[in-house]
Amino acid sequence: MSDKPPAPLTEFLHLAPPDQRLDHALVVAGTFKVDKFNEMLFDLTGTHLPDTIRRASGKRQAEYFAGRYLAALALRHFGVEQFDVLADEKRCPDWPNGFIGSISHTDNFAVCALAPTSKLRAIGIDCQEILTPKKAAKLWPKIIDENEYSIISAANLELNYGLSLCFSAKESIYKALYPFIRKFFGFSAAKLCAVNPRQHYLEFQFSSQLATPIGINHPLRVYYQLTDGRVLSHISLGPNQINA
Ligand SMILES: CC(C)(COP(=O)(O)OP(=O)(O)OC[C@H]1O[C@@H](n2cnc3c(N)ncnc32)[C@H](O)[C@@H]1OP(=O)(O)O)[C@@H](O)C(=O)NCCC(=O)NCCS
Repeated sequence: MSDKPPAPLTEFLHLAPPDQRLDHALVVAGTFKVDKFNEMLFDLTGTHLPDTIRRASGKRQAEYFAGRYLAALALRHFGVEQFDVLADEKRCPDWPNGFIGSISHTDNFAVCALAPTSKLRAIGIDCQEILTPKKAAKLWPKIIDENEYSIISAANLELNYGLSLCFSAKESIYKALYPFIRKFFGFSAAKLCAVNPRQHYLEFQFSSQLATPIGINHPLRVYYQLTDGRVLSHISLGPNQINA
């Protein structure tokens, strides 16, 4: 990757300043414009284009490229050049030895969090547009149960905000823990047990399916930020927090 971004790249992707708020992890993010995406960006930036993505829609190519380009920038920050972040058959990214990371994208925003495994053992990041009240009213039973619903209400959060936070947090948990569990687990595997809007975190209790293999026996926090109509959530676990 050269130091000066090529013009088609700057037209497509606008980088946000690096965010170091996540302990020990570097977070690289940017907004992108799908209509400015061109497949040649893969070649121009030396980003590997898997066959599955070559055959995908322009939108999927654009979000995949944005995520992988941010991953390359983050790796480069830690001195790793030209590493192709491939994925397993479940789309879980395969990071170079000594690193752990996570990627997320919406229609126009992408983010990658990366950390050395000496500092963090698990990391999950997720961004979502805030759900409309109508969608939230329809979707909530698929994502949370009645007890989680009451915790959101008791925190005085509108359902669409509370559900968006919880949905995003659960997806962050999935991305962080999937590499240890290596099989699908649904939204009931982590239950919301507390919300702290002042300190911007949600707390989750894990089912034994998740907790036992990785030795977690207490609730864990997922932190969030609300910006530009979207939620960005993240969870990270240090070497002392996970037995894996
Ligand atoms: C996999 C899933 C979490 C992706 O979330 P999403 O909102 O659809 O999409 P995002 O843009 O936020 O994230 C996509 C990225 O997540 C990463 N990802 C996908 N599957 C992954 C996995 N199994 N493990 C870790 N990371 C994964 C990939 O980097 C992917 O982007 P890419 O394919 O371009 O590389 C979601 O589709 C899903 O299956 N959710 C149900 C499982 C769940 O959330 N359970 C709740 C447990 S409490």
